[in-house]
Amino acid sequence: MPFDIARIRAAYPALAEGFVHLDGAGGTQTAGPVVDATAAAMRAAMGNRSAAFAPGRRSLELVAAARSAVADLLGAEADGVVLGPSATALTYTLARTLGARWRPGDEVVVSRLDHDANVRPWVQAAEAAGATVRWAEFDRDTAELPTERYAQLVGERTRVVAVTAGSNATGTVPDVPAIAAIAHAAGALVCVDGVHSVPHGPTDVAALGADFLVTSAYKWSGPHLGAMVAAPATWERLRPAKLLPSSDAVPERFEYGTPSFPLLAGVAAAVDHLAGLDPTATGSRRERLVAGLSAARAYEETLLERLLAGLAVLPGVTVLGSPARRCPTVSFRLAGLSPQRTQEELGAAGLCLSAGDYYAYEYFQAMGLRDSGGAVRASLYHYNTVEEVDRLLGELDRLAAGGGRMAG
Ligand SMILES: Cc1ncc(COP(=O)(O)O)c(C=O)c1O
Repeated sequence: MPFDIARIRAAYPALAEGFVHLDGAGGTQTAGPVVDATAAAMRAAMGNRSAAFAPGRRSLELVAAARSAVADLLGAEADGVVLGPSATALTYTLARTLGARWRPGDEVVVSRLDHDANVRPWVQAAEAAGATVRWAEFDRDTAELPTERYAQLVGERTRVVAVTAGSNATGTVPDVPAIAAIAHAAGALVCVDGVHSVPHGPTDVAALGADFLVTSAYKWSGPHLGAMVAAPATWERLRPAKLLPSSDAVPERFEYGTPSFPLLAGVAAAVDHLAGLDPTATGSRRERLVAGLSAARAYEETLLERLLAGLAVLPGVTVLGSPARRCPTVSFRLAGLSPQRTQEELGAAGLCLSAGDYYAYEYFQAMGLRDSGGAVRASLYHYNTVEEVDRLLGELDRLAAGGGRMAG
């Protein structure tokens, strides 16, 4: 099925403003049905969760609908979906909870390719427990994360292996199932950061071998909320710090405070929206999600190829890494212009891109690029077009030739 980009774009009201959004990794635009569902929930009579009266039941239903939607998106069980304010907050909760059981001599394995949200919570939990941190290094040229190194890093004292399913800096998609198999053979738990990978194709938490997988709805057309999934039986074994009167049930005991019910309506609407990306798809919501996100991935790959081919022939452009499997995300630097200046020049032309380290702190530190401003990132999403990719390439060509728009 050809990807009907005009139909797709019409679903995002913000695109009417005319900016070129090339920062999906930093957050996508919000789909119209998400805006509508959130507003409808805010307009409706609403109470805190209670089965005793209709507005209270409405809140209960919104929570249940959000869990069921995220479960369909990730191939998980609704009772294993923990909802929270952000992927960072959820990972901190998990790391503190697991870390409370670690002893000196225990080990955790983190990667230098990960966003700091799947690094620092583990490093700090290890410090608090006197446990040891072991680092998986990436290949400096390709930005691949070699699987075979995990065989040396993981041992009988490894408690957790934390790894990304998609780098938000280089787009690298590591071989998470193989890494998880090594971790599981040693009895370790696997925590996968799916924040950057989930928007770009179907996700199956079991196929990945993830004991825990975290995602953020604002990276896939939804509101600023996160979710972490695990098997309900896995959550049952864990006891987080919590308030005395709050629910002790799974998954509620991992959720702090009163959730934003209207934004949860937006989460479910975002998943329904993704399930409609391929209008010819039929079957369960999960099946339509797999079809829709597969179609989106195929379309994004054509844009990525065009972007990479265009960058390769631009003078003065250096692309960071060349991973074999990648999300449609590319970091690059322009000779003679700092990443921040490049970002500002592009911004002045109406193109929105990230610059810096985008919290992929260890990656840029290891590359020796943090002090010189990191890189510029072009991160594609399924609402981007060939014309937008060409506009970026054209602007970069002009900048490479010394033709900045901004004075000074
Ligand atoms: C790969 C990756 N992991 C984690 C995060 C953190 O997500 P959140 O903002 O929901 O805490 C981000 C955010 O950019 C990310 O790109």
